[in-house]
Amino acid sequence: MFENMNESQAKEKIFEMVKEYYNIYQKEEKAFSPGDSIRYAGRVYDENELINGVDSVLEFWLTAGRYTAELENALKEYLDVKYASLTNSGSSANLLAFMALTSHLIEEKRRVFPGDEIITVAAAFPTTVTPIIQFGAVPVFVDIKIPYYNIDVERLEEALSEKTKAVFIAHTLGNPFDLKTVKEFCDRHNLWLIEDNCDALGAEYTIDGVTKKTGTIGDIGTSSFYPAHHMTMGEGGAVYTNNPVLHRAVLSYRDWGRDCHCLGGHDNMCGHRYDGQYGELPKGYDHKYVYSHFGYNLKVTDIQAAIACAQIKKLPGFVKGRQENFAYLKEVLSDTTDKLYLPEVDENASASWFGFPVTVKEGVNRDKIVQALEGKKIQTRMLFSGNLVKHPCFDEMRASGKGYRVIGELTDTDRTLFDTFWVGVYPGMTKAMLDYMAKVMKEAID
Ligand SMILES: Cc1ncc(COP(=O)(O)O)c(C=O)c1O
Repeated sequence: MFENMNESQAKEKIFEMVKEYYNIYQKEEKAFSPGDSIRYAGRVYDENELINGVDSVLEFWLTAGRYTAELENALKEYLDVKYASLTNSGSSANLLAFMALTSHLIEEKRRVFPGDEIITVAAAFPTTVTPIIQFGAVPVFVDIKIPYYNIDVERLEEALSEKTKAVFIAHTLGNPFDLKTVKEFCDRHNLWLIEDNCDALGAEYTIDGVTKKTGTIGDIGTSSFYPAHHMTMGEGGAVYTNNPVLHRAVLSYRDWGRDCHCLGGHDNMCGHRYDGQYGELPKGYDHKYVYSHFGYNLKVTDIQAAIACAQIKKLPGFVKGRQENFAYLKEVLSDTTDKLYLPEVDENASASWFGFPVTVKEGVNRDKIVQALEGKKIQTRMLFSGNLVKHPCFDEMRASGKGYRVIGELTDTDRTLFDTFWVGVYPGMTKAMLDYMAKVMKEAID
């Protein structure tokens, strides 16, 4: 087949075949009819993702390489930040963002030590909170507000103590939290702000006339590229920041704790590989094997990055699609507001919806609606943990009352356990699907 072809011509031939394969076997053109399944999320792609993936496999670099660099640069540009580092998941991104605050590179006054407190919410995805607990810091849980599903900022001052070092919260389901108030609170008390932006890539927030992407207003932000999210590389994520010290710490923690920050597969990029003095090591000990943190290996493969390089080109369209689907669903459900709380957005924000959260009002049965939807093959989801403190992972901490604090009552947080669910708005959905979803929901209310 490749006779008389050079390598690049052979590759082109393979790519043509991949394109044909996609068009024949994977392209979805079937119109929706009631009874077909409606997923809450899913990957949306075309032949370009497949071609990039195949290209990377043929190149066989495997570990972080040129596609990784391309994706990190594209992310920096999209988010308008100085530094972006890919990771193997959004959970890893959260772990790195948090661990960066514990680095010896941070001045002691601001560094997070075991026993320090981190303000967060319990109506959370678990891995926003997990790094705090695993490190031995103390999560301080503040209630959320329905129908925003984000932190109740009026409780922030009450949550503050002498041990508070940071606020670490997510933009729930792509709906930005009140960044203006939270940022002012952090600035006033010299606290770090980690934005878990895993559900919210593409959301924006305006403070004093300046609009920025969420995830870039605090000190450090995170993304997830799991297939359900706004763009995907299978498993994957990113950490981003404008702070060079946090960036340096992220790279070290991500790459085994090493001090050297040569790119993978490259040696002696700084030109000082053999002339430094570190710890009690002999002078000139190979910098590549000097460890300045107790790190992990949370890197990506170039094959993952290659797929996401095609995805990020579609990201603005994906975000728009999610926003349009959300607006349409809210419109068709607008006659249900005597029975349902429909989601609301902060006045300074533009959301990049991950899903459409609904909370039932007094006298309406959430479970009946969920069962009706699931019975018609329409996927529903809970608001992640609802209240993380009530989960089995908290059993021992709850019993001892140690290792965490709760500020007042978690009234709206607890309410999500009984009254809240969400459905999808991902760009693979059509108006026919949204209409059907709304119809099934309405029939289950009456
Ligand atoms: C808010 C939030 N943070 C973190 C994560 C973790 O991302 P990953 O699944 O890539 O580990 C998720 C996952 O959906 C999430 O919703």
